[in-house]
Amino acid sequence: MSTALVTGASCGLGADLARALAARGHDLVLVARGAEALDRLAADLTIEHGIKAHALPADLTVEADLEQVAAAACDIDILINNAGAALGASFDRTAWADEQRMLALNVVAPSRLVHAALPEMLRRGVGRILTVSSVAAVGPAWQGTAYGAAKAYELAMTQSFAYSRRVRTSPVALTALVLGYMASQFHVRAGVTAPPPLLTLASPYVAKQAVRAIHRRRPPVVCVPSMRYKVLAGLLRHAPYRSLTMPGLAKDFTTGPVGAHDRDTDTVASGRGDGGNDVPPVGAHRDGQAH
Ligand SMILES: NC(=O)c1ccc[n+]([C@@H]2O[C@H](COP(=O)([O-])OP(=O)(O)OC[C@H]3O[C@@H](n4cnc5c(N)ncnc54)[C@H](OP(=O)(O)O)[C@@H]3O)[C@@H](O)[C@H]2O)c1
Repeated sequence: MSTALVTGASCGLGADLARALAARGHDLVLVARGAEALDRLAADLTIEHGIKAHALPADLTVEADLEQVAAAACDIDILINNAGAALGASFDRTAWADEQRMLALNVVAPSRLVHAALPEMLRRGVGRILTVSSVAAVGPAWQGTAYGAAKAYELAMTQSFAYSRRVRTSPVALTALVLGYMASQFHVRAGVTAPPPLLTLASPYVAKQAVRAIHRRRPPVVCVPSMRYKVLAGLLRHAPYRSLTMPGLAKDFTTGPVGAHDRDTDTVASGRGDGGNDVPPVGAHRDGQAH
């Protein structure tokens, strides 16, 4: 029996990744801020699949919380770096405190958890690490925001470690999930319009594909769920960057109206977790205070 730690497991893709891992018999450590939703999911999965699951409530943008999760990550077989969020406004219009939390969540937290988990995995000769990146990492999506750059970091980090000699010659594997539009709380929380239905993937489908990929004997370094996005990601990767920045092709946040992320306000539009409890997005804390 092996144990997987899943960040951002209170709703969306993280909850579906936890379900898919539980269905394969893995014990689970579930991480997010929404403690109630985590407790509910842990109880459901324990009953449904006879596994051990426990909630580890943590705000990954708070250093003390992150260190607690890193301590738990030293002792696991599968690390799923899924928690993530975007700010739906261009970099010139956001408050720095919001950007800092976005980078803490999408860049610092996954790096810290890989730093905690990887040495132990290499020592034991067993382990899988999945980090959820985005199609925004491979092409000009979310122009003018630091979100795409943060997701590009997650992809580059995975590739850098996965292709290193020490990892390549070990049974440990790292995979980046290059994800297109998917139905979840993500867009509501970022305060942007929902993606076009034709291009929107279902989260349980994405989770099953990702979990299947990391269970291969040799998992892929990059996993792109769905044929549509395999083609699109391939085009974005190989077409000249400038040819893809035409209006209509790339969403350019610098041309949008000033909205809830305007740097005069220090908070972004609030989202709700699947559990129905009010859950703040990346740019806000439960108590409304900036840390
Ligand atoms: N949806 C898309 O179209 C799309 C496309 C490409 C990539 N992605 C990536 O996919 C991943 C999953 O996103 P999703 O679509 O499932 O979004 P989601 O429904 O908004 O879920 C985000 C998860 O991250 C957790 N989270 C947010 N801030 C956190 C914090 N400060 N500390 C701890 N946990 C935090 C949330 O839980 P709490 O609020 O309870 O903390 C939630 O469980 C993200 O990395 C996202 O960047 C999404």
